[in-house]
Amino acid sequence: MMYFEGKKYNVVTYGCQMNVHESEKISGILQDLGMTLVNEPELADVVVFNTCCIREGAEDRAFSNIAALKKCKAKNPDMIIAVCGCMPQQKQGKYDLKKKLPFVDIVIGTHNVNMLGAYLTRVVDTKKRVYEVVDTPIDLSENKTTIRDDKINAYVNIIYGCNKFCTYCIVPHVRGRERSRPYEDIKAEVKDLVSKGYRYITLLGQNVNSYGKDLNNGMTFASLLTKLCQIEGEFKLKFMTSHPIDFNKDIIKVMKREPKVAKCLHLPVQSGNSDVLFRMNRHYNIRHYNKLIKATKRGVKNVSLSTDIIVGFPGESEKAFEDTVKLLKKVKYDQVFAFMYSKRTGKPASILPNQIDESVKNKRLNKLLREQKFISKQMLNDCVGKTYNCLVVVHNGVTMGLTDGGREIYLPNDSNALENHFVDIKVEGIRNHKLSGVIKCQKSHQ
Ligand code: SAH
Ligand code: SF4
Ligand code: F3S
Repeated sequence: MMYFEGKKYNVVTYGCQMNVHESEKISGILQDLGMTLVNEPELADVVVFNTCCIREGAEDRAFSNIAALKKCKAKNPDMIIAVCGCMPQQKQGKYDLKKKLPFVDIVIGTHNVNMLGAYLTRVVDTKKRVYEVVDTPIDLSENKTTIRDDKINAYVNIIYGCNKFCTYCIVPHVRGRERSRPYEDIKAEVKDLVSKGYRYITLLGQNVNSYGKDLNNGMTFASLLTKLCQIEGEFKLKFMTSHPIDFNKDIIKVMKREPKVAKCLHLPVQSGNSDVLFRMNRHYNIRHYNKLIKATKRGVKNVSLSTDIIVGFPGESEKAFEDTVKLLKKVKYDQVFAFMYSKRTGKPASILPNQIDESVKNKRLNKLLREQKFISKQMLNDCVGKTYNCLVVVHNGVTMGLTDGGREIYLPNDSNALENHFVDIKVEGIRNHKLSGVIKCQKSHQ
C-alpha cells in the first residue's frame, strides 16, 4: 500500500528469543510495506509493541511503555500503534488492553501476527481500530522477509507452542499446542542462512526436543539435527529450549558425534527439589535430571551448561531452596537465569497453599545469584588448559575466540586474519578476570 511508503517504524520487544525472532519477521512485514526503521518509538509513524506476559513485571513494563506513547499520539494523530504478542493473547490478563489503551490502533495476539500488514492497511482504510485475538493459528507459512538483528547468529523456528502445562506457566495458554515445522522448510531456511554467512543457527522452540512428535513421519529432534548437519558450509547449530523429560541419549549422541552441533546445552531445571518439581508438574525428579547432566558431561567434552530457576514457588521450604543451591554447586552451570515466582491468574500454582512472601523470594534470589557468581569465578580457573572450538571475532580492534557457550578468550592480535572462522583455541591463563589463549590449529566444518 502506497500510504506506508517512506514512513518510519519502530518495534519494541519484550520476552524470550521466540519474540525476538518474531520481531525480526514483523520488521520484514513493515519493510515490505516500504517503511524504514528509526531507533526511537517517539519518532516513528508506526510503533509495534511485541509483548510478553511470563511474569507480572514483564506485563507492567510493557503496559507503562505503551501508555507513555499517548502523548506522542496526541501530537501526531496519524501515528499508528499496534500491540501484539503474548499479552493480548491471554484470557485473564492483568490489564484490559482494549479499555485501558483506547489510543492503541491494533491489538492482536500471537496467532495472527503475520497478518499485521493487512491490519495496518485496514486501519488506514477504515479509520477504525482493529481488535482481533484468535484461538488458533492462521497461516503457518514463513517465507516472508525477515530483518535479522544479528550478523553472526540467526534464529530459525522449528516448533511452535507447548504441551507441557507446568503449573506456573502461561506459555501453553498463549502459544497453543505443539506444531512442528515441516523439515523441508527448516532445511531450506538453514541452507539460505548458511549461504549468507551466518556462523551460528539457533533452532527455536519452547520445547525443541518434542520436534516431530506431531508430524507422524518418524522424525525426531535427534534426526533433525543429524540431517541439518549434512548441509555444507562453515556453521554450527544451537538449539533452545530443551526439556529434561524429552532431552535424551540420542540427542547427546548427536551432540558428541557432530562437529557442527555446538557444545552447549540450556536445560532448565526450575528447582533442585523433587517435591517442588512435582508441584510444578515438571514430570521429572532431581535424580533423573542429574542423570541427564552426568550423561551430557560424559558424552560431550567441555560442554557448556545453562539453566532456568524459579525461586519462591508455592510451598518452597528453606530446605527445598537450599537443594537448588546445592544443585548449582554440583552441576556448575556457565549461566543461570533465575526468577522469582510470579503468580499468573488462572494457572494452577496461583491457588496452591503456602504462597511465599515477596521479601523471602527476594532474599532467596539474591542468595542464589551470589552463590552462582562465586561458582562462575571458580569455573574460570577450570577452563585453563582446556581446548575449545571457537569463532574468531574482532571487537573494537581486540581479537578473541567465542566458545559455543559464549565465553570470550583473548587472542594475540595477529590472529585477526582468522576472523569469522572456527578454530581450536587452548586456554593458557587468566588476565584481568578474562581468559587468554592461543590458536592450536585451524579446523573448519566444511
Ligand atoms: N519452554 C522453556 C522456557 C519457558 S519461559 C522451558 O520449559 O523451560 C522461560 C522461563 O521463565 C522458564 O524456564 C521459567 O524459569 C520462567 N517462568 C515461567 N513462568 C514463570 C512464572 N510464573 N514465574 C516466574 N518465572 C517463570
Ligand atoms: Fe512453560 Fe513448562 Fe511449557 Fe516451558 S515446558 S513453556 S515452562 S509450560
Ligand atoms: Fe514471554 Fe510469550 Fe516468550 S509469555 S517468554 S514472550 S512465549
